Amino acid sequence: MMFPALASILLLISSARSFQYTELAQYVDSHQEEYVEALRDWVAIESDSSDILRRPDLHRMMDVVAQKLQLMGGTVQLVQVGEQELPGGQTLEFPKVVTAEFGNDTNKHTVCAYGHVDVQPAKLEDGWATDPYNLTEINGNLYGRGASDNKAPVLAWIHAIETYQALNMELPVNVKFLIEGMEETGSNGLDAMILAQRDTFFSDVDYIIISDCGWRSRRPALTYGTRGNCYFFAEVEGPKQDLHSGVYGGVVIEPMTDLIGILDTLISPSGKILIPGIREAVAPLSDEEWKMYQDIEFDMNYYKENIGVSQLMYNNKVDLLAHMWRYPTVSIHGIQGAFSASGTKTVIPAKVTAKFSIRQVPNMDPALVKKQVTDYLHSVFAKRKSPNKLEVTMVIGAKPWLADTQHPLYEAGKAAVKKVFNIDPDLIREGGTIPVAKTFQDVTGKSIIMLPIGGFDDGLHSQNEKISRYNYIEGTKLFIAFLNEVSQIKMSV
Ligand SMILES: *[C@@H]1O[C@H](CO)[C@@H](O)[C@H](O)[C@H]1NC(C)=O
Ligand SMILES: *[C@@H]1O[C@H](CO)[C@@H](O)[C@H](O)[C@H]1NC(C)=O
Ligand SMILES: [Zn+2]
Repeated sequence: MMFPALASILLLISSARSFQYTELAQYVDSHQEEYVEALRDWVAIESDSSDILRRPDLHRMMDVVAQKLQLMGGTVQLVQVGEQELPGGQTLEFPKVVTAEFGNDTNKHTVCAYGHVDVQPAKLEDGWATDPYNLTEINGNLYGRGASDNKAPVLAWIHAIETYQALNMELPVNVKFLIEGMEETGSNGLDAMILAQRDTFFSDVDYIIISDCGWRSRRPALTYGTRGNCYFFAEVEGPKQDLHSGVYGGVVIEPMTDLIGILDTLISPSGKILIPGIREAVAPLSDEEWKMYQDIEFDMNYYKENIGVSQLMYNNKVDLLAHMWRYPTVSIHGIQGAFSASGTKTVIPAKVTAKFSIRQVPNMDPALVKKQVTDYLHSVFAKRKSPNKLEVTMVIGAKPWLADTQHPLYEAGKAAVKKVFNIDPDLIREGGTIPVAKTFQDVTGKSIIMLPIGGFDDGLHSQNEKISRYNYIEGTKLFIAFLNEVSQIKMSV
């Protein structure tokens, strides 16, 4: 018979299993070629969610993810999230969302890692130095569409789990996966799916982790905020067909001239948004924030060099970071219906549609922004006394997201970075939009952390997208360490 004291000591030893980080990290190092090959296989699938002709590739991509997670022993589901309406009344199935579960021990925390495996379009002719769908390593960088956004981070999560499994070490927390395939076109169907599974899949999730962004410098970072986005179409319609500018120029009031005129009233050359009410809604910059920005590692010259410009809108770090992260801006993206081919064409386009967007920050409200923009453009247009017709529509209205950096989840993130990189992370925001963060926050009420592993110069959505081998491999270790740190957070009872 065992003495009660001895029994409890044994129990203590078995439950307080020490974290064998060195072994786990060594395993990752010695398997990095396999991880690069796995990324090569994933990058080779042209999972461009914006191109309906690529939909079969996208379905295949989701199947590959599901099969991988299943082989690892996860409880996997492929969840249907509806259909896309095509012009002409046909429909096309959205790629299924993959969910997976590893462990369901109620004595452990449960984390859910979110990622996406669809990509932005890419063609060699766009100016890529290498085939965007053939992963190519040059000087320690792995070039390929979707390498950093978001295939390597999803694989890094998978490899983190596999490493624990391979070494027969119990996962310190239960891990769930939510992997989607429509992120690049607005996560179609995902909000409804999250809402539908709020009381099932998400009911026992404590923390949600998103690794769909990058660092701001060579220093690892934790991300605590993202901007939202309101995307607008402004259509000006005039004559019933395109006209010859030699024959009709000078007598017809041209839709394009009207459109350019009103577009030019959105923002001043110095970056001041001219739409009434927009700037007034923005949360003021606190002293604390100013101090935090001041301490962030950010090389302005390298930043300029990297994007190939000689001058930026602001020339001090705090202003730059603040306008990247916590102030709104207007970007004009294109004009549909305008002549844009090389060569000359003397045409007066009959109908032109401008595409522009306004990045959203706390405390802006997309519904209000829609009204402010629509009212303003109509008032500016009215002053032109043009007979043409203006129509303004808002096609995307994604809210910003902001987290509490004092939360234990962020403390866990800081400790994990310290463990792997032996340095404290920068706390940063993301200028881009990750709408699912806001949905998770609103629908599930769970705490969310963004734990990026991508580099600051990965060129997401751009030509020559890459992730460095270093970020990919050390990022895998970061996830391994993070899971352990999360397991140390006190259980609330
Ligand atoms: C927990 O997981 C085990 C093994 O996968 C499974 O048999 C069991 O039904 C699960 N329990 C719950 C409550 O989901
Ligand atoms: C990828 O690129 C390598 C190196 O240029 C080449 O040998 C290989 O055939 C390419 N693979 C595919 C599938 O195009
Ligand atoms: Zn992404």
